[in-house]
Amino acid sequence: MNEMVDMMVEFGGMGLANPVFTASGTCGYADELAEFMDVNALGGFVTKSVTLKPRKGNLRPRIVETNAGMLNAIGLANVGLEKFIEEKLPVLRGRSAAVFVNVAGERIEEYVAVVERLANEEPIAGFELNISCPNVKRGGITFGTDAGQVKEITSAVKKASGGKCLMVKLTPNVTDISVTAKAAVEGGADALSLVNTFTAMVIDIESRKCVLANRTGGLSGPAIRPIAVYMVNKVYTEVAKDAGVPILGGGGIRTASDAIEFMIAGASAVSVGTASFIEPGCAVKIIEGIKKYCERHDISKVSELVGTLK
Ligand SMILES: Cc1cc2nc3c(=O)[nH]c(=O)nc-3n(C[C@H](O)[C@H](O)[C@H](O)COP(=O)(O)O)c2cc1C
Repeated sequence: MNEMVDMMVEFGGMGLANPVFTASGTCGYADELAEFMDVNALGGFVTKSVTLKPRKGNLRPRIVETNAGMLNAIGLANVGLEKFIEEKLPVLRGRSAAVFVNVAGERIEEYVAVVERLANEEPIAGFELNISCPNVKRGGITFGTDAGQVKEITSAVKKASGGKCLMVKLTPNVTDISVTAKAAVEGGADALSLVNTFTAMVIDIESRKCVLANRTGGLSGPAIRPIAVYMVNKVYTEVAKDAGVPILGGGGIRTASDAIEFMIAGASAVSVGTASFIEPGCAVKIIEGIKKYCERHDISKVSELVGTLK
């Protein structure tokens, strides 16, 4: 049995203490988490999406539970760039977990403006681009569903990122996720993050109305995990492995076994989202569980697990 497992992973040009992140939008800006877990124990932390201007988000109800998951249509409610810098950034200072700021917008120039403004802020290790947003200039077509737009937005933001790690978060709502993954890599992505939520709908049969005020929402949680694992493996084998671009894999991770599955499929690191609503401290438990698995399998470096699917 190997008592000393090296939990460090190389990720987009940096060394992380371990491969476990919390996912954007599920753990606020870190201060919300402090009561439940030691944020510094995480490998990485991704903030809620930040947009140039504050956003109130969609009308309520904007969350509904379903079998083995939930739908959300929060609509990117957030404090906006200026308040983020004033109020949230100081809380993220001095963290040992790598802090990624998730950035969203309706125009490429908005993404660029946010990243440009944050590029020299010391507590930020990198950016995660949420491209599951409609591009108002292109008639509302989601940036992330069109390979041309994915490449364009990635390269525009990359130029503004001041050398910080640029991770592009792919939407699963496409025919072939390898096509958009390849476009992100061609645009200069340092890392890929997958998957965001799956567009879905829940209907109240008595009123025959959608439960969510927005009608549709994004499905997350254990219901999506096997599809997410498949997509991570597809992107790893068809794009990321040869390009040497690491993947942050996630979708329905609740336990260490779930996380290990993603790593075997090809993820260098994993993100825990919806599970934090049920058990806010579970990301830290997952780190411990991965370590125990490595000990049991005589794996001395956790990174040796990545992409080992037979
Ligand atoms: C309530 C909620 C809010 C979310 N907000 C964001 C967000 O602001 N930006 C983003 O890129 N992803 C957001 N996500 C997506 C998650 O980061 C994650 O990609 C997705 O939920 C799949 O992982 P999970 O099944 O572990 O939750 C949100 C998810 C949930 C459930």
